[in-house]
Amino acid sequence: MDAARFLRPSARGRVPAAATIFLFTLTALRCGHSQVPLPRVPAPEAGDASVARGEYLVRNVAVCGGCHSADAKNPDGALAGGKEFRNWRIGVARASNLTSDADTGIGGWTDAELVRAIRNGVRRDGRLLAPVMPYEWFHELSDADAFAIARYLKTLPPVRAEVRQSPNVIFRIGKVLFLRPKPELAVASTPAGANAAYGAYLTQHAALCAECHTPRTGLLQKPDRSRLLAGVPKPPADFPARPSNLTPDSETGIGRWSEADFLRAIRTGKDPEGNAIHPFMPWPELKRMTDDDLRAIYAYLRTLPPTHTAGIDE
Ligand code: HEC
Ligand code: HEC
Repeated sequence: MDAARFLRPSARGRVPAAATIFLFTLTALRCGHSQVPLPRVPAPEAGDASVARGEYLVRNVAVCGGCHSADAKNPDGALAGGKEFRNWRIGVARASNLTSDADTGIGGWTDAELVRAIRNGVRRDGRLLAPVMPYEWFHELSDADAFAIARYLKTLPPVRAEVRQSPNVIFRIGKVLFLRPKPELAVASTPAGANAAYGAYLTQHAALCAECHTPRTGLLQKPDRSRLLAGVPKPPADFPARPSNLTPDSETGIGRWSEADFLRAIRTGKDPEGNAIHPFMPWPELKRMTDDDLRAIYAYLRTLPPTHTAGIDE
């Protein structure tokens, strides 16, 4: 678009000054640090297994290492960050160092600050995190699970690795004008079990299946919840494969898959026809989920409305 076309010749000279003042004001306002209060730390339970629970969630369910591992080829590696995500809405976001290093990692953070970052999308100082960090879905991670994750991160051996962010002007302006952290919320635990209710929780708020498998829409690229898990025919450029339709549609989804087919696909990385599933789909980590958790996810996927999606495989 040629902006100059819209300006009368005499106004051109004034534009840079006006733009500078505008941006200056925005930058000043930008200290509008978020008002999201810190969550309350739940009382520890008897026989607290929360670090182990946190490790299970981080490594096998949410697979935080898919983004935060310093070694892109090894999501199980040290979570020292650095992986770059670029798009025109945000500039360059780099996955943070989640190890306990006091200077460059989260060593100095409280558990409550970590939980707030993960669920509400704000840094320790209250500034908004780039929405590459999937707080859109982690927002409803239960208090118990979110604190378990925080406690596990605090046990990670420190790795010194400075990670810098390079937000562009669009993201900076967006943060002032319309991008907001997710509101404060206390989330009770969904009782674990091989049922659809627990599967809904895992699929959307812990395992990020919904983050990858739901198409996005509009300028802000918000998930299109009317097509939840219906597959993404036009994924972002950095996706090496198109996320499949996980609804029970029998033509374009997984309507014909039995529970055994589903578990086998996640455990072996092969669909029922024997086609390999690209490891960008984090099955090599997800396969370590318990049978009950995978059954819960399958049970939930069966409850979705079958949605036809043109333009993905099959
Ligand atoms: C899709 C990629 C992705 C996934 C998956 C992901 N993150 Fe992030 N995360 C990011 C990016 C990118 C940032 C940096 C955003 C910024 O600074 O604006 C970030 C920032 C953070 C921060 C803020 C740290 C700081 O120093 O400001 C925390 C805490 C965090 N992530 C924890 C987690 C945890 C725990 C998980 C798994 C439960 C996870 N993330 C999964 C991409 C991801
Ligand atoms: C990082 C993004 C990402 C996440 C997270 C993710 N997937 Fe996927 N998934 C994909 C992509 C991309 C494909 C397509 C792979 C291919 O075509 O080889 C896929 C394929 C699949 C398939 C194969 C479907 C078919 O028709 O062959 C299943 C089943 C599946 N995912 C289930 C899940 C479940 C369940 C979760 C959560 C526990 C999940 N995925 C999380 C990206 C993801």
